[in-house]
Amino acid sequence: MTLCELSLALPGRLLPWYGSHARDLPWRQDRQPYHILLSEIMLQQTRVEAVRAYYLRFLDRLPTIEALAEADEQTLLKLWEGLGYYSRVRNLQKAARAIVAAGGFPTSREGLLALPGVGAYTAGAVGSICFDLPTPAVDGNVLRVMTRLAAIDTPITSAALRREITAALAAAYPAGRCGTFTQALMELGATVCGPGGAPACALCPVADLCACADGRWKDIPVRPAKKARRREEYTVLILCCGETIALQKRPDTGLLAGLWELPNRPGRLDAQGAMDWAVSLGVQPQRLLRQLTRRHIFTHVEWQLHGYEFLCGQAAPPLQWQPACEAALPTAFRILLDRDDD
Ligand code: ADE
Repeated sequence: MTLCELSLALPGRLLPWYGSHARDLPWRQDRQPYHILLSEIMLQQTRVEAVRAYYLRFLDRLPTIEALAEADEQTLLKLWEGLGYYSRVRNLQKAARAIVAAGGFPTSREGLLALPGVGAYTAGAVGSICFDLPTPAVDGNVLRVMTRLAAIDTPITSAALRREITAALAAAYPAGRCGTFTQALMELGATVCGPGGAPACALCPVADLCACADGRWKDIPVRPAKKARRREEYTVLILCCGETIALQKRPDTGLLAGLWELPNRPGRLDAQGAMDWAVSLGVQPQRLLRQLTRRHIFTHVEWQLHGYEFLCGQAAPPLQWQPACEAALPTAFRILLDRDDD
């Protein structure tokens, strides 16, 4: 079957299946655009199970789009701490401000696409789920399902492939049930036709239509080899004075822009070198409490962090001394504060 024929066959199969197999997820309780936008932004790059708690806590603290528009930056960053990709929450707030200024959510795909941080995927998800628009939300799950169904061996990163799948699905969207169709496609990709290991073809409502149910799923989707991550090495100071630790702000551009960080510098210093550096900062290091190495992986770069924790006699400026638990510290640095595993 062609991609278009397959797409047309999907609603009849997937809607009933979804009706009895959908996971009970917090963002499926209603169709409020704020809720759906928030969940879709959180779900980009982060697993469903991890998002649950973040989503509930975020809405507990900022229950309305107005509250999000007015939130201060530290509150936002703290709510996002651990999710990564902090520009997503900054854009989300910009979008909230635009929505409040406009007096409500845009209800067209074009209007949604004009919001900061909203691309084709998010506009498709919000448009279909909240406004019943026939706008596919083609993420990795949906690409995998569709390329397997039709045995398409074009690399999954191809923009032309994404356009082709989007067009085929758009023509098949069932009026009045657009949101359910979007979610059913995602659900199939997440729970039956998953990315790791064998798909559960025996449980699949469209296995009989699928060109890969015979084992070809091993070869599809085709992913071009990833470029190796750049490796960077840093020496990091964990400077403790009383109940506080020393922090500084990262530059406004680049990785983790504008977030708090522990003092760090490129390269690996030994304990004496780290001590000398701490002395030069005026913090009067008295004792080396811990020495540890941690790795943190970003999309394009991998950090090797050599941490030295010193008890200090002086909470010297310009470092900012804050209780560790209060600062919105990205995970890359927070892992150096965890005490349970070294
Ligand atoms: N992944 C992306 N969006 C999702 C959603 N709405 N439900 C479950 N998984 C998702």
